[in-house]
Amino acid sequence: MSKKTVAVLFGGASSEYRVSLWSAASVLKNLDREKFDVIPIGITVSGDWYRVTGDVERVGSDDWWENVGELIPVAVSVSRSAPGFLELRGSEWRRVAVDAVFPVLHGRNGEDGTVQGMLELAGIPVVGCGTLASAVGMDKERAHILANAAGVAVPRSVSFTAGDRKKAVTRAARIGYPLFVKPARAGSSCGVTRVERPEDLPAAMTEALAYDDRGLIEQAIPGVEVGCAVMGREELTVGRVDEIELTGGVFDFREKYVGGSAMIHIPAPIAPETERQIADAARTVYRALDCSGFARVDMFLTPGGDIVFNEVNTIPGLTAHSRFPAMMRGIGLDLSDVLTALVEMAL
Ligand SMILES: Nc1ncnc2c1ncn2[C@@H]1O[C@H](COP(=O)(O)OP(=O)(O)O)[C@@H](O)[C@H]1O
Ligand SMILES: [Mg+2]
Repeated sequence: MSKKTVAVLFGGASSEYRVSLWSAASVLKNLDREKFDVIPIGITVSGDWYRVTGDVERVGSDDWWENVGELIPVAVSVSRSAPGFLELRGSEWRRVAVDAVFPVLHGRNGEDGTVQGMLELAGIPVVGCGTLASAVGMDKERAHILANAAGVAVPRSVSFTAGDRKKAVTRAARIGYPLFVKPARAGSSCGVTRVERPEDLPAAMTEALAYDDRGLIEQAIPGVEVGCAVMGREELTVGRVDEIELTGGVFDFREKYVGGSAMIHIPAPIAPETERQIADAARTVYRALDCSGFARVDMFLTPGGDIVFNEVNTIPGLTAHSRFPAMMRGIGLDLSDVLTALVEMAL
């Protein structure tokens, strides 16, 4: 196969902007340059797109890419006869053809189907899930409905908006405390609160609504969190299942990225039969949500051995310490192999 050109998108108008930079630094470092020419494209938190030159692997360290190096404004051409990126050189727009785009974006405006839809419209192959799976995967309420319809258990929940908060509080009382309150569409634990007492519910709901105009109040599922990496379209490759050992009750932003007390066990210290059941549930959710490319399916494993779906991440973290790459390493695939497989799947 001749060398292909892949545009890597990072940053984005999302509460997970910084996490995307960390993932992108790792993707830029591990993409096989013998196979791919890479065009790094940064999206500012206010939503401006630039092609970045210079030492791109440094994107992960503070807003380096915005302050150093040359920034060339770019736009996506959605014209089918001239697909690719348009870059502004002086006062001229010049077209740059690409074979695929790899959105290394987390959260809104990137992992949610918006970017995927635009690229599909342009006829540009996209790495990872398409528009539908990305949009449904971003929306925890809808993802639960589809997973449950496919036979996978989900937490009992009540959704709310600013307009129907009172009704939601009454209905949530029937679920029983503790409860989890979260934005329907966010990530990296932004706006997620564990609520032990009714008097703390209103503040948690306000916090969730700071990230989305819809929130969810969920039954707290006891036990441990387990995750399963899935890759593929028709034939699925499933990584080793991992388990998160928490001391604080919430796998929050600090525990995820700053380094807290959480321990991630890979492989999870569970019976082979339980791991098989978790992998089966992950495959079922992956197909129910029409995922393709890759995704990390997160679930709870209760003390009674029940598997309860939590959420699917259609662009999971890809940093050196992230869970998806570790799960794939568990079956002998290093990140470079995984990235090659993902890009080739898109092509
Ligand atoms: N229903 C629940 N029961 C128990 N813990 C939960 C529940 N919902 C969320 N959590 C905790 O909060 C964390 C973040 O919630 P999650 O829904 O995964 O949001 P995010 O998309 O931000 O990762 C989870 O990893 C888990 O520790
Ligand atoms: Mg999560």
